[in-house]
Amino acid sequence: MNPKLLAMDDSEWSAFCESVLEVQRSDFTKEMEQRLRVFGTKSSMGIFDSSVLMALVRKYTPSICVETGGNLGMSSAFILQGMYEAGIKAGKLLSVEVDPNIPVGSMIPDRLKSGFQPLLGDVKQLMKKEVFPEQIDLFLHDSSHRYKYQYLEFRYFWKKLRPNGVLVSHDVNFNASFVDFVSTTYKHDKIGVTDRARTTHSVWGRLGTIGFMVKS
Ligand SMILES: C[S@@+](CC[C@H](N)C(=O)[O-])C[C@H]1O[C@@H](n2cnc3c(N)ncnc32)[C@H](O)[C@@H]1O
Repeated sequence: MNPKLLAMDDSEWSAFCESVLEVQRSDFTKEMEQRLRVFGTKSSMGIFDSSVLMALVRKYTPSICVETGGNLGMSSAFILQGMYEAGIKAGKLLSVEVDPNIPVGSMIPDRLKSGFQPLLGDVKQLMKKEVFPEQIDLFLHDSSHRYKYQYLEFRYFWKKLRPNGVLVSHDVNFNASFVDFVSTTYKHDKIGVTDRARTTHSVWGRLGTIGFMVKS
């Protein structure tokens, strides 16, 4: 990808969409569809968005991932499988969930659980306690979909992302927090033309209700 374009070109989008469809048709997804039927709730991420999430993991190959709103672990399973398929050794996923009554990660197949670390608590409180790793490769927001809360998470975790790290948000259609946050990472010159060198993302986009942006 040419980072100066601030977008994926046609062939990169085509390859990415192929990858999403490949995930969607995979045996792993069939396995997860079955688990979704048996254990899932209406809060669990749907199949298409989960496939987009995994295609992002396969494309950007993160090792240290953080997700908020872990719940039963549908999104977690697709992140962990994505790291496995990308050949990431010893990948880690920290999964934050505020509700102590939820069996966090219970939908994740056992063979994927070695890198899974559930963390009980409210994301905002945990931010104050500085419990998160200093540098992360992928952040997924899927906790409280209130504008201010999402924006807070985006601002906090964007700073922690390494160059080429990916910020992902589920349910970006709920409000404008994702696009508003993206807009803060653009820099413009005096006549309003985007200054690509000072703009701090290299690409962003949306597919399904998944939004993503890559740090430059
Ligand atoms: C839509 S569900 C997440 C689904 C999950 N990602 C999946 O695919 O299975 C949202 C979850 O976020 C949790 N949550 C909401 N606010 C939170 C907060 N402030 N901190 C941590 N978790 C929160 C809820 O308890 C709920 O389990």
